[in-house]
Amino acid sequence: MNRFKDIDQIIPRQAYNFGKLDEKKLLPDPIHQFQKWFKEVLRSNTPHPNAMTLATASRKGRPSARMVLLKGFDENGFIFYTNYKSRKSKEIHENPFGSLVFYWPGFERQVIIAGRVKKISHQESERYFSCRPRESCLAAWSSQQGDKIQSREALEKKFNAMVEKYQGKQIPLPSNWGGFCLKPETIEFWQGRANRLNDRILYTKSKGRWTKQRLQP
Ligand SMILES: Cc1cc2nc3c(=O)[nH]c(=O)nc-3n(C[C@H](O)[C@H](O)[C@H](O)COP(=O)(O)O)c2cc1C
Repeated sequence: MNRFKDIDQIIPRQAYNFGKLDEKKLLPDPIHQFQKWFKEVLRSNTPHPNAMTLATASRKGRPSARMVLLKGFDENGFIFYTNYKSRKSKEIHENPFGSLVFYWPGFERQVIIAGRVKKISHQESERYFSCRPRESCLAAWSSQQGDKIQSREALEKKFNAMVEKYQGKQIPLPSNWGGFCLKPETIEFWQGRANRLNDRILYTKSKGRWTKQRLQP
């Protein structure tokens, strides 16, 4: 196999020149600042604007990361939904700290959020589940996320059994499915700049108040 030894030979180095961050102009509350950036992304045609990497770690500190979709945010935190028996959920149970990373290439922007992760209420998960497309609800019932399965056919068989079981009926929330909320303790806004002298502004919450600080790139 030909090895990719020098990716710079294949992909031209990208210069960042979309914008800049002025700590005096960033909003005092990072959730408001996040909302401002998120609205800009939504107004553009960015694919999967709400896709984020979620990093968790086991009790022993062994990390794992994967993409999930942001389904809501406010001053209480950032919400995503998943299977409560998945690897991420087991890790959150063992070690309730996580980190989220957004990257919006068209804006040359990254946001990194870190904090404590908690399950949301059963009622809130129920409310969200009832608004999902029927097929997605059936898929949640059909999959023990992360468990091994013999074949694709075996998975589709489980799905079809659920289609039949709930035909003409309302689909209840599975007990192993629901939302988590990551309550931020730090939020970093990153904007690519020329010559890799990127702007990084870190907000930290202490005694209920947010302060911001510029970091070296
Ligand atoms: C763009 C994208 C969005 C995803 N959104 C979710 C999501 O919202 N919830 C979820 O459980 N898995 C989502 N996944 C699948 C996860 O990345 C992952 O495969 C799954 O949750 C199992 O992760 P775990 O075994 O580490 O717990 C998404 C994958 C991609 C690529």
